[in-house]
Parts: sequence; C-alpha cells; structure tokens
Amino acid sequence: MAGTPQETHSHEILNPYEGAPLPDHLIPELAYTPEVERETAHLYERVKRVIPPIEWPGFAPYVKAINDLKKHRNAVVLAHNYMTPEIFHCVADVVGDSLQLAREAAKADADVIVQCGVHFMAETSKLLNPNKTVLIPDSNAGCSLAESITGADVRALREAYPGVPIVTYVNTSAEVKAECDICCTSSNAVKVVESMGTDRVILIPDEFLAKYVASKTDVQIITWKGHCEVHERFTAEELRAYREADPGVKIIAHPECPPDVIGESDFTGSTSGMIQWVQDNQPSKVLLVTECSMSDNVAVETPGVEFVRPCNLCPHMKRITLPKILDSLIFLKEEVTVPEDVAEPARRAVERMINLNN
Ligand code: 13P
Ligand code: SF4
Repeated sequence: MAGTPQETHSHEILNPYEGAPLPDHLIPELAYTPEVERETAHLYERVKRVIPPIEWPGFAPYVKAINDLKKHRNAVVLAHNYMTPEIFHCVADVVGDSLQLAREAAKADADVIVQCGVHFMAETSKLLNPNKTVLIPDSNAGCSLAESITGADVRALREAYPGVPIVTYVNTSAEVKAECDICCTSSNAVKVVESMGTDRVILIPDEFLAKYVASKTDVQIITWKGHCEVHERFTAEELRAYREADPGVKIIAHPECPPDVIGESDFTGSTSGMIQWVQDNQPSKVLLVTECSMSDNVAVETPGVEFVRPCNLCPHMKRITLPKILDSLIFLKEEVTVPEDVAEPARRAVERMINLNN
C-alpha cells in the first residue's frame, strides 16, 4: 500500500511498490536522487514561487514517477483549477474548469484518463469515453452540490412543473443528469438556459448559481436549495472590510457565491473565467473569492500580481494528492463506471451542452 511502507527488522524501509504489476524499471523508488532532481528541475522552476525549496524533495520523486508511468500506461491526467500546484503545474496534461475538462475528455485519445478533481467530473469523463478506463485517485472526493439532489428529486420536480425544461449544473451525479434535459457549467449557464427557448426553466441544484443566472436573463428560473460548502462561507461583510483596508483591490468571485458576495465583486465567472480575467487585467492586487489553490496556480503565471487570500479549502478536491495519483497509475484504480441505462440519457444531457458550445 502506498504511504504505509513496512519496516524490516534492520529498520530498512521496503519499497511500497515492490511486486506491483509493472516492469522493474518502472517500479518507483521515491527517493530524491540527483537523477530525480535533474529531471524535475524545469518543473520546480515553474512552481518555485509557491512551493518552498524544502518541500520539493518530497514532491519531486512522485512527479517523476507519475510522468514516467503516464507514458507506459498511455494515460492523460486531467486536472481541475483547484488542484494544488504540484499537481496542476507538474503532472497535469490538461487543466481547466468543468467545461474545458469535459470538452478535453471528449477529445482524449489516451487509453486511460486520470481525473484529478471530484467524482462528478470523473463520471462526466466516463460518460464521454465509455470505452476508456477512467480513474479517480480517491473516489470519496465528492461535492456538496452533487450530494444535495437525487434522481427521485428531479422526477418530483418534473411532476410539479410539467413541460418546464430542466437544466442541471454539471456538479451532479450521472443519475441526476439522466433525468435532466441538458447540462450546464458555471461558464455557460446563461447561454444554456436561454437556449431552451422557454419563459421558465428549472436550474438545479445550486441556488446561488441560479440566482446569478436569473440576474442575467429574462427567463424565469426555478431552482433547488443546494449550496457549495466552500463558496457559501464567504460573506459580503468580509469583502467590504478588505475593500476598506485597500480601496484599490480587485475582487473576483465565482457564481456559486451568495448574491450579496457577488454584489461586492468586480467580476464574476467560472474558475477559468477568473483566471483569464486576472491574466488579461493584471491588477496590482486581487482577491479571488474561491477555493485556495486557485490563487497559487494563477500566481505562478502572473508574477506582477499580489494575491490577497481569504480563501476556503474544498475538502473534496484536497483528497487528490500525488501519492494517490501514483497509486492510480500503478494499480489502475479507482475505476469509475456508470451503468449503461443511466449513462445513455446522462450522456445525452452532457453532449447536448457540448454541442451547443461548439
Ligand atoms: P468551474 O466549472 O467554474 O471550474 O466550477 C467547478 C466547481 O466545482 C467550482 O466549485
Ligand atoms: Fe463542490 Fe464546492 Fe468543492 Fe466545487 S468547491 S467541488 S462545488 S464542494
């Protein structure tokens, strides 16, 4: 088992991967040797502003082992913008928000997809790649929004509002997607809602995203009481205090935040929309009202920007670590599957969204 090396009587540490189903030269030693240091130096150069030198010897052997194994497995690593910098900048092949990751998953030509994000993201990749092996390094990486609603809840909404189309935020299980007409993400929600061509639309399960969309369209929005446990914790009061302390600071918020928090912000957008805004505007000081790793990941590429960090951690995203990614690639775990009777209608909802954007 990774992370639980056994001790011999002479206190020699056994390699936890000894005997793994791999050719000998790919069994990782996980030591910070001169070779590992040399082969990962270009990657440390990228992240040195956010990872202290004392921490790199702990990450580098995993980074090298993962990058070697990706080639052996013909695997691609898709990583959400909330992954920590050693994942985001050092082992990911594709990074992005939920929409970009879904689009890239649809194009992937690797045999194995390792989804560094939460479970609904891995399920979306599986829906779009039914014949590929889709792995998530920790299948307990959930989401408070996805857990707030079930397929039975959606069926009850259909009965209560006959004929009203149901748009589901991508942060839901495949079982919920299967009951809905189309999917959306934070970057295309207004466009998807308006594409329904009706006066009323049900948009589930994020109440705050739904309120944000309602403020941008004439379509009447019916919603659900789901919340993101990370974004609901921000308050307008704390943002006002930051602005009072420094009137020049720019405040950028994710649409999963409560409406009064969004009301205090200079820009609202998906995680990639937020990154793009910082890159385009290069503010001298910015406050990203979202998950903590975003600021680190953007700071790597925007050295002139100072980040104020009143961030909140997503405990689900933070379950994904380098040792677990390495385990995924060695043991081909944890495999994500969706029964075909659920996958078929859920895929239709996701593909309808992707085709709309194309
Ligand atoms: P994005 O699609 O904006 O990346 O949002 C996903 C998410 O889970 C934010 O909390
Ligand atoms: Fe879900 Fe919120 Fe975590 Fe995103 S940040 S995965 S919405 S709990």
